[in-house]
Amino acid sequence: KQMLAWQRTSFHFQPKKNWMNDPNGPLFYKGWYHLFYQYNPEAAVWGNIVWGHAVSRDLIHWQHLPVAMVADQWYDINGVWTGSATILPDGKLVMLYTGSTNESVQVQNLAYPADPSDPLLRKWVKYEGNPVLVPPPGIAAKDFRDPTTAWTTPQGKWRITIGSKVNKTGISLVYDTIDFKKFELLDGVLHGVPGTGMWECVDFYPVSKFFENGLDTSDNGPAVKHVLKSSLDDDRNDYYALGTYDAVAGKWIPDNPTIDVGIGLRYDYGNFYASKTFYDQEKKRRVLWAWITESDSEAADICKGWASLQPIPRTIKYDKKTGSNIITWPVAEVENLRLNSKEFDKVEVKPGSIVPLEVGTTTQLDIMAEFEVDPKVLERLEGSNATYECRSSGGSAERGALGPFGLLVLTDKGLSEQTPIYFYITKDVAGNFTTFFCNDLTRSSEATDVRKLIYGSTVPVLQGEKLSLRTLVDHSIVESFAQNGRTAITSRVYPTKAIYEDAKLYLFNNATDVTITASLKIWQMNSANIQSS
Ligand code: FRU
Repeated sequence: KQMLAWQRTSFHFQPKKNWMNDPNGPLFYKGWYHLFYQYNPEAAVWGNIVWGHAVSRDLIHWQHLPVAMVADQWYDINGVWTGSATILPDGKLVMLYTGSTNESVQVQNLAYPADPSDPLLRKWVKYEGNPVLVPPPGIAAKDFRDPTTAWTTPQGKWRITIGSKVNKTGISLVYDTIDFKKFELLDGVLHGVPGTGMWECVDFYPVSKFFENGLDTSDNGPAVKHVLKSSLDDDRNDYYALGTYDAVAGKWIPDNPTIDVGIGLRYDYGNFYASKTFYDQEKKRRVLWAWITESDSEAADICKGWASLQPIPRTIKYDKKTGSNIITWPVAEVENLRLNSKEFDKVEVKPGSIVPLEVGTTTQLDIMAEFEVDPKVLERLEGSNATYECRSSGGSAERGALGPFGLLVLTDKGLSEQTPIYFYITKDVAGNFTTFFCNDLTRSSEATDVRKLIYGSTVPVLQGEKLSLRTLVDHSIVESFAQNGRTAITSRVYPTKAIYEDAKLYLFNNATDVTITASLKIWQMNSANIQSS
């Protein structure tokens, strides 16, 4: 246990002990951010699920509160599962959540604060008429869960969507309601994609086409696009697509069917699942939470007594520059944890070399980096038709003409344990460049009971843009963002040697043909104040 103590994070949200999974019903109320989450009060494995609860003034420092809802009714006795909050125009709150019944049927239930004048929302009341929804005809008893936040319809009703599947087609059902007690199932579905399987934790919200601010879930019109997100149970990743919402028909149509939900873009190409957004009416932004699982063994989780983290919450915006993706970025408040910084200006990294970055302790860092590749080399290099993919590549050890190059975090002096985060550029015979952003975990730990994948994807790089990278390191979690948040990769790492003072930071360039110039600013990060109730 002692040996694993260093894995606990210092500025990421996690319960004091035991198991956490999905974020539930995030919201801002009377000056406080609330985070509820799937929680097992008894062990560091999934089971006995209730709603854990914590509050914060700034999304960074937290106060744990007693559990908000327990499994005490026939309609949720097998688990108080995932749900979402809706703030009504009069400021009142309603919570819809999935209950797993005494017969393990998935039903939707209504709950509301016992005392709306309590800003900490400590006590919740379950509606006496629960459940308010049971699986409709044609939907299996265990394929009906995770209601969304409600939005308004042109008829002035409330509307929600709930993930499901029919055969192998993932779908999202649509319901209208006036009072959150009686619901009406719409004909057809919000959307469905063949082959994607069960849709968990569907999320649906507008993003502004023109402005930086986030939008309330009910906003719609020509200045808006709609994001549809599904967590694919079969694939364990969060996929989204941009599209247009037809409020009259209750349907959403993807901008580009070839990158539809579940077959196209992801929020994050690492370890990131069951996410949920909320509209922060105080700061006028949309904020994303998610379940970051462990990548070690269940035995290790039991030994250390806890499992799972939340990411640093991320703001979500539409990427006006590309028009084809969203941007996710750690909330600005995390920058208040920045302590002393060090800057490195235009460091040259020759092909096949490594440069140590002396910054002191490296277990809690915020790193901003920019990389320049000599344009003459890019021009001169002959194109090739060889394909590349982070996941199936040889990782940071596979040398190409124009990559990989980037950072080695949580790396020991002997480089036997290292976690590379890097770019890899390819040029095809027509002269087109593609940039990949990857995180190679294959050498991240000498422990044998750890999953060590190579994560990553392509990232759009527009004319004239430098390659940019931001990485947050917090003991056993590494969150990385390329091109200011067009692509993200979150990973869990479990070094055995690259810990405490022995964890170092390096620049590396394993390209064969090009010298890289790197400029960095690196901050030590303070610990967040996370208090017990
Ligand atoms: C997603 C999920 C949800 C469900 C909850 C149960 O991780 O399986 O679909 O409501 O977790 O804990």
